[in-house]
Amino acid sequence: MEIFFFSLVSHLFLFVLYWVFPVESVFLPNLPALETNPSFHVFDQIVSSVCTKSTRKGHLANGSNNIILNPTFEDELSNWSGKGCNILLHESMEDGKILPLYGKFFASATNRTRSWNGIEQEITGRVRPKLAYEITAIVRIYGGNVADANIQATLWVQSQDINEQYIKIAISQATDKGWVQLQGKFLLNGSPLKVIIFLEGPPPGTDILINRLVVKHAEKAPPPLRPFMKNEAFGVNIIENSNLDDGINGWFPLGNCSLNMEFGSPIELPPMARNSLGMQERLSGRYILVTNRADTWMGPAQMISGKLKLYLTYQVSAWVKIGPGSTSPQIVNVALSIDGNWVNGGQVEFNNESWHEVGGSFRIDKQPSNVMVYIQGPAAGVDLMVAGLYIFPVDRRARFKLLKKQTDKIRKRDLILKFSSSKANNVSGAFVKVEQIQNSFPFGSCITRSSIDNEDLVRFLVKNFNWVVFGNELKWSWTEPQQGNFNYKDADELLDFSKNNNLEVRGHCIFWEVEYAIQTWVQGLNKSDLTTAVQNRLTDLVTRYKGKFRHYDVDNEMLHGSFYKDRLGKDIQATMFRTSHQLDPSATLFVNDYHIEDGSDVRSSPEKYIRQILDLQRQGAPVGGIGLQGHIDSPVGPIVSSALDKLGTLGLPIWFTELDVSSANEFIRADDLEVMLREAFAHPAVEGIILWGFWELYMSRENAHLVNAEGKINAAGKRYLALKKEWLSRARGYIDVQGEFRFRGFYGTYNIEINSPTMKINRTFVVDKGESPLAINIDL
Ligand SMILES: *[C@@H]1O[C@H](CO)[C@@H](O)[C@H](O)[C@H]1NC(C)=O
Ligand SMILES: *[C@@H]1O[C@H](CO)[C@@H](O)[C@H](O)[C@H]1NC(C)=O
Ligand SMILES: *[C@@H]1O[C@H](CO)[C@@H](O)[C@H](O)[C@H]1NC(C)=O
Ligand SMILES: *[C@@H]1O[C@H](CO)[C@@H](O)[C@H](O)[C@H]1NC(C)=O
Ligand SMILES: *[C@@H]1O[C@H](CO)[C@@H](O)[C@H](O)[C@H]1NC(C)=O
Repeated sequence: MEIFFFSLVSHLFLFVLYWVFPVESVFLPNLPALETNPSFHVFDQIVSSVCTKSTRKGHLANGSNNIILNPTFEDELSNWSGKGCNILLHESMEDGKILPLYGKFFASATNRTRSWNGIEQEITGRVRPKLAYEITAIVRIYGGNVADANIQATLWVQSQDINEQYIKIAISQATDKGWVQLQGKFLLNGSPLKVIIFLEGPPPGTDILINRLVVKHAEKAPPPLRPFMKNEAFGVNIIENSNLDDGINGWFPLGNCSLNMEFGSPIELPPMARNSLGMQERLSGRYILVTNRADTWMGPAQMISGKLKLYLTYQVSAWVKIGPGSTSPQIVNVALSIDGNWVNGGQVEFNNESWHEVGGSFRIDKQPSNVMVYIQGPAAGVDLMVAGLYIFPVDRRARFKLLKKQTDKIRKRDLILKFSSSKANNVSGAFVKVEQIQNSFPFGSCITRSSIDNEDLVRFLVKNFNWVVFGNELKWSWTEPQQGNFNYKDADELLDFSKNNNLEVRGHCIFWEVEYAIQTWVQGLNKSDLTTAVQNRLTDLVTRYKGKFRHYDVDNEMLHGSFYKDRLGKDIQATMFRTSHQLDPSATLFVNDYHIEDGSDVRSSPEKYIRQILDLQRQGAPVGGIGLQGHIDSPVGPIVSSALDKLGTLGLPIWFTELDVSSANEFIRADDLEVMLREAFAHPAVEGIILWGFWELYMSRENAHLVNAEGKINAAGKRYLALKKEWLSRARGYIDVQGEFRFRGFYGTYNIEINSPTMKINRTFVVDKGESPLAINIDL
């Protein structure tokens, strides 16, 4: 998904580091503008650390667990040294304008001539592998005519095989105005020979000031509470007078537009809401006509403060329409202003005068004091019509029964085990135990070069997944960070690892269409050089790995970026597909994009995705699969399945390629994950599900892990394992007089055991995908 990354400091080493700049979601700080270009950043980028934004208030760390020696410089500069620069001790600077925040002293890293110069301390032996550590530093910058600069904490790790690694563990914007707190978490694998922690980052000439550094074993999170959710008013609309039975009471115009009631809107609920609420609900046919709209954000609004409950997932639904006179497509967005933050309740884009469904979902995990819902979006002067706005909490589990039925229909097969015996034994009446040992459906995870150094993570991976995808190691920015400077080592090692562990591999990705994901040297090429570089990238990568990757994401996120298209013309995307296919006809070529399945992003609606795929096919691109990244929040089954149904009409396999769900409450996270997994597994068009990691600190999204950094499986992890178990069939019984044993089971590998006084067998057999009953002969 979206990430910012920029190449850091060029260390003297072969290694080029990238840093993720997490922006969880973008809220409009002030009412009530429309976020017309909504960019929800979730990240494709994986590093072995997570860092949080700086705060100016540090809370005092428990010094006794601190593995840093002389952390507040009470002992002057002992244990510290300069990395390529000088360090100095201070009680104050600038005639007392700069004073320590804690204790009596601070230090500066000065005479810095490279951005990687800074202050360092060796922590070998004091930092232990596989334990999660948190770091907090109190820092600021000084001098060099720089007001703000990023300071980064980095570990330099030398391992047994003399590999050097740089692990970024925290980054924060520091200023010359005051101290800020730098915070992050990390985990070390293996048994490093030497570990040094250092601060770096600001441009040469700017000093790094440090007042205190604490690195200690991360505190265990308090046991999460399962939110109480009994007797909730699921399905009950919280909007007052949705159907205008009472004129436009309860509604007010946001801005100086005018609201009037009219008649003639649909009386059916929009499909996604109908799926949640049932057919019997009817609308009145009355709608709100909004005229005199002087700005995009103007529309009907209603206060719903006090009506939202924590942790419930709310589905949003309405019919919307625009008045005549607009020539370009218009966006309509159901927006919530939750204590001044913009929350997206769904958006839709269209350019004709039909009624359109708008739908989405949201959830709150902090009790707000002020909540307003409003409908906005079309250009000033364009009339807006809104009918049947419903916001209701969804009982997401209520749908599972239906999904189980669908799953049973599409993921299982009737089986007839036919026993025969050359020894003329009478086989009937023997007791049979059939146990599925593996479901052949692809369940995968993202891995990274550093994550596979963690043996515990690998054990969980190999036991519970059969596919993988590499986080960054195949991306062009990774394999050729500077022009002509190739690094295929990490991808090679990950491929070997996958092969050795019988894991199938998706190739992610050959190109990535979004500008910020493109390395500097590529951005600097002129048209003819870029054409050559693109051709070389295709030839180098796809030839090198011919037959190795089962899938390729050919050009990631074409609905969200147009770097290559803008520079090389529309046909370049189809060319990438065509050339990839010529170079490796065995790989299935995917499109891959995000926010397709949640109604939240008009740039990537299912309709737009379909149009893009058809366009590519028309240009001869052999598109073989549809990738839905699946970085999703507060999923609602009928919304997800609506997108799958639409995309399913293309007849191409759909894969969830980067699925992750994020909630600080792990029970809610478990529910979100279950919604997504069940929807995907129950849908006939879906042929694989890849998670974007599962281990804390090896994921790009926070609060998305299934296993914590130190190996504890949380509620979301347990839910995943329970589903995997549910999707294994078992059967017990006696062989009938025909010498047969029948049951219905999931596709995959089975073990059959007969353990009677006259017969002992233990065999495996495989059930391939197919609709007709499958007879399997078992000769005893
Ligand atoms: C309505 O508000 C817009 C700005 O929000 C302003 O330009 C316009 O003059 C206002 N119209 C009336 C009739 O108040
Ligand atoms: C309006 O556009 C939608 C797709 O956005 C389409 O399904 C519908 O048929 C169109 N209606 C008319 C009257 O053209
Ligand atoms: C096989 O054994 C079962 C009872 O175990 C019996 O009902 C059946 O008639 C036997 N069949 C033959 C062919 O002997
Ligand atoms: C593109 O840049 C290369 C060198 O960077 C130069 O040799 C070439 O002439 C340029 N081509 C065009 C069309 O400007
Ligand atoms: C049957 O074989 C499987 C491995 O194929 C093994 O795990 C299982 O323990 C065996 N069962 C018996 C009763 O030997």
